[in-house]
This record gives sequence, C-alpha cells and structure tokens, in this order.
Amino acid sequence: MLKRIHHVGIVVRNLDEAYRFYRDALGLHVHKTAEVRDQGVKAALLRVGHSEIELLEPIDPRGTVARFLEKRGEGMHHICFETDDVERELAAARAKGIPLIDEKPRRGLAGRICFLHPKGTAGVLVEYAQPVD
Ligand code: CO
Repeated sequence: MLKRIHHVGIVVRNLDEAYRFYRDALGLHVHKTAEVRDQGVKAALLRVGHSEIELLEPIDPRGTVARFLEKRGEGMHHICFETDDVERELAAARAKGIPLIDEKPRRGLAGRICFLHPKGTAGVLVEYAQPVD
C-alpha cells in the first residue's frame, strides 16, 4: 500500500539559486544534501510537513537528469510515493504490465527506491521509496 507522497523531485539549473526561492519565499529549509552519482545529480531535500521537496541539479552532462533539463527545462521531474515494501510494490506494477525503469529496487536518497517508466504512468515519472534508517 502507498502511504503518502514522500517527495516531489524538481530539476533545477542551480541548487543554490533555486534554494533561495524555496527558503526566502516559501520558508522551507534544507535538511539534507547529497551527491547521487548513479543519477548524476546533486540533491537537496527540503521538508514541508510530512513530505519533502527534492531539488536536483545535474552534475553529469550525460546523465538522464541533465538530458531532461536540456529537453524540458527546469520544473517537476518526478513524484515519489512511500511504501513499506518496495519489492512488493514493484512486483505489483510489473504484474500489471507497467513499464519499469528499475527491474530491482536500489539504494537512493529516500531509502530503497525504484522508478516506473513515464510512458506507463500518464506522463509523470513515478518513484517508490521504502525509507531505511
Ligand atoms: Co526522488
């Protein structure tokens, strides 16, 4: 079962510049930053209530996020739903014939994660995350 929206991923050209808007205009604060090499990004997580905004700045020009930015510009990149069993959620999506980006869960910023392909999700890249601590 999906429990809540864990975070919304937003692609930006420059993390520091984008953060100025989220901090000064919206009053949100970064609680975690990280480089996620296999996704080719620098990321900053901002808390808003029980959910987060995940700002993503590409650092690898050949990565998928860099290509997304080039093609579509800054803006919403993906929506992430929290689950307590990412394996089961992924298996359920596979059984329904939804095209997958990840065949197996992997380690991401939000815990154990996987992505469904936007061609099967009405155009929005969907992430499932099972937090680990
Ligand atoms: Co994400």
